[in-house]
Amino acid sequence: MKMGNLMGMPLDDPLVVAPGPWTRGIENMKEILLQEPGAVITESIVSEAYPDVRPRYSVDRWSRGVQNIRIYSGRELENWLDDLTEINQKKRYGSKTKIIASIMGTTASEIRYIAKKVEKTGVDGIELGLACPMGEGPRIVASDPALVFDFTKAVVDAVSLPVSVKLGAGISDMTAVVKAAENAGASGISAIDALRCILGIDIETGQPTLPTYGGYSGAPIRPIGLAAVAGVVQSTDLPVLGIGGITGCKSAVEYIMAGAASYGVGTEILLRGFGVIRELKDDLNDWMRERGIASSEEIRGAVLSHLHAFEEIDQNEKTAVLVEACRGFAEHSARLCADGHDGLCMAGCLCHAIQLSEDGLHIDRAKCDGCGLCVSICPDGKIQLSW
Ligand SMILES: Cc1cc2nc3c(=O)[nH]c(=O)nc-3n(C[C@H](O)[C@H](O)[C@H](O)COP(=O)(O)O)c2cc1C
Ligand code: SF4
Ligand code: SF4
Repeated sequence: MKMGNLMGMPLDDPLVVAPGPWTRGIENMKEILLQEPGAVITESIVSEAYPDVRPRYSVDRWSRGVQNIRIYSGRELENWLDDLTEINQKKRYGSKTKIIASIMGTTASEIRYIAKKVEKTGVDGIELGLACPMGEGPRIVASDPALVFDFTKAVVDAVSLPVSVKLGAGISDMTAVVKAAENAGASGISAIDALRCILGIDIETGQPTLPTYGGYSGAPIRPIGLAAVAGVVQSTDLPVLGIGGITGCKSAVEYIMAGAASYGVGTEILLRGFGVIRELKDDLNDWMRERGIASSEEIRGAVLSHLHAFEEIDQNEKTAVLVEACRGFAEHSARLCADGHDGLCMAGCLCHAIQLSEDGLHIDRAKCDGCGLCVSICPDGKIQLSW
């Protein structure tokens, strides 16, 4: 038993396929259903399809961060209604996966209109994509608590399905927005959407990697997503779908420990294909079995009791100590550490507390102020803080 919860609905597995071009229509949805995730969310459906631009993706191969300039679905509402109806008539091709329609509109009445249409197809729930980070079309509604309330209430009052609200990380008052969604009757929160970005600039020509602002997603946004999810969980009892930079079992567990009731994967499918879904499910199963964990609920929110207000943090003095002798470079990854220069710890110590002499590396504890940088940067784990 692995359990998960999306908008109050129990899931067979906490893995949810996030909205994006990998869920762009019936062919992809069928492939996803074969992998049996707990739920799958369609690419955001709008009443007027947005044309595709070419190219629309760019990948930073070093960080595995991706910029996309694909706004919502390029398919007409009527096509989506046909696809979703067909999937439901075919009894979801034998899968227990919940099917969620992600929708967006420019006004509360437009989004309500789309919600009523998709409800008739037999989907299990509706997600409101209120935080798309690009384009001149729908605004980033999610930044404004009053708009979030209006859009959510319009849909909640019009349908009898659970409704969740998807937020981004660039919101200044996340608590107010979450409360607005909750007061309007939302059954869940999803966080985070992609972040507004310029992936890079060609410094010879001044050209951006892609010709407009785009959405940044993939591995590098995970720390931002984790903070957003923990913050949302601390401000509401609604179940939270945690998304952003999940690349494997470890990052899925991190989101659950941040309090997510289910976790979403998107860009990793774009980069590695649909097989990632099964791989992630199996890896999380193994991880839990090895630790005797029966349900993801047992570890959900594990980090929250360890997160403190800044004022409450322990201020005891600590200094760095070498726990293993070092000759000035990592034995296992010498190039990464020293690369012909000072070891990483020496180069980065702003207190000049680390020196190299003929008999090896020394840390002057009188100079060290315990910042922890060297501990974190040493690739061989040779330094610890002590007091
Ligand atoms: C190419 C692309 C298209 C996306 N389209 C949508 C969309 O239509 N609706 C939506 O709510 N989120 C959309 N997203 C955001 C993802 O669902 C997800 O929230 C975000 O990418 C962070 O997760 P990830 O790092 O696992 O991709 C899109 C993301 C990408 C990369
Ligand atoms: S970073 Fe680690 S391995 Fe490199 S010089 Fe410092 S202690 Fe040695
Ligand atoms: S903990 Fe900070 S100050 Fe102390 S030795 Fe390491 S890098 Fe220098």
